[in-house]
Amino acid sequence: MKTVITYGTFDLFHVGHVRLLKRLRKLGDRLVIGLSTDAFNELKGKSVVFPYEHRKEILLATQYVDAVFPEQNWEQKRDDIVRERADIFAMGDDWSGKFDDLEELCQVVYLPRTPETSTTEIKQIFVKLKEERLHEVRNVAEHLNRLIEELL
Ligand code: CTP
Repeated sequence: MKTVITYGTFDLFHVGHVRLLKRLRKLGDRLVIGLSTDAFNELKGKSVVFPYEHRKEILLATQYVDAVFPEQNWEQKRDDIVRERADIFAMGDDWSGKFDDLEELCQVVYLPRTPETSTTEIKQIFVKLKEERLHEVRNVAEHLNRLIEELL
């Protein structure tokens, strides 16, 4: 039984996450995820849309994830690897080289990220939509104002 361990926030679950999990699961027989808690995300300066329990439920609903446990700090990884008997620690290559010290405990692998998709990008799309909507509302308001002035 080969166990793969990974970490992340997995907010606004998207295809980049799916492809990563699929490839991670193929590296072994069991995939466990240290899912960043809402408090830990705050500490990292990241605000999440979906709370921990929802993000956990989504991950467990996929066919790739066997277990999810809370990631509450930067220091817990060594204990997690030992407790979960992980053979492979794997992350997307945005973390390349950052966890090489864990090679004392297990194999460390960095997988290429899916290009052009991320939670940050999805959030930016929503911000842009909101701005466009505001712009539209302002235009309508100005138009109505002009009509009212003409009527007075
Ligand atoms: N990931 C990936 N391909 C993407 C986006 C993420 O392979 N397009 C991987 C990351 O490398 C990481 C895991 O998915 O190993 C969880 O990443 P997370 O930071 O939760 O997702 P992001 O979309 O990168 O979120 P953010 O934009 O907030 O950093």
